Amino acid sequence: MKSAKPKHNQKRARAKSAAPSVLVEPGAKRRFQTRLLKWYRAYGRDLPWRNTSDPYKILVSEVMLQQTQVDRVIPKYHEFLELYPSFQHLARTPVEEVRKTWYPLGYNIRPHRLHSIACETVARYGGALPNDPEELLSFKGIGRYTAGAVRSFAFNEDAPILDTNVMRVLHRVFVGQGDPKAQKARLWALSEALIPKGKGYDFNQALMDFGALLCIARDPYCLLCPMKSFCKSYPFDEKKRDR
Ligand code: ADE
Repeated sequence: MKSAKPKHNQKRARAKSAAPSVLVEPGAKRRFQTRLLKWYRAYGRDLPWRNTSDPYKILVSEVMLQQTQVDRVIPKYHEFLELYPSFQHLARTPVEEVRKTWYPLGYNIRPHRLHSIACETVARYGGALPNDPEELLSFKGIGRYTAGAVRSFAFNEDAPILDTNVMRVLHRVFVGQGDPKAQKARLWALSEALIPKGKGYDFNQALMDFGALLCIARDPYCLLCPMKSFCKSYPFDEKKRDR
């Protein structure tokens, strides 16, 4: 039949251009989940924002961590929460004062964004940050990463996260070639697909620590890595470093 061939070709063309249908091989997924959580139980960091599920405190920590190293964030996180313990406290403080408190973390837009999120949370949501992803993303200053972090760390949802560290880990282990920045859609999908049901909180925190402590940008500790048997980048070639 005349029409059969083009249809077939169309289907093949579609299949070729679509994202890879198997994002992650089930065995590798299971191994990654189990080994990551086991590694985290042994080596995960005891960080102050891991002892709370208060959405305000989680948000403060995540905004601070966006451009500042953990060691420098810790004292400022405590100081900030002493001065402004809730969205209400922060909203009623003049933004200039908040900026001064923030200043050692860098002169930038983050304190203004955080203050405006606090004002909006108080005005529109009675001081309780919503957990709905669309609502979270509607705040200026809350992007896809921060929304995922707030949903998983404050609301215990299986929401994906993807920052530079997580992108590097997932790209190395499951992709192994090309520029990670050019594969963000695939890596977001991977981050979502890998979360073990009901374990988004631990899994995401574990991913962060794994990227910060073991699967680091320069000279990763591949010999100690529990993923090396199936990692697409092992043995790691420094010359092909992805960063
Ligand atoms: N960087 C961003 N979020 C973090 C978290 N929750 N723990 C450690 N490092 C982080």
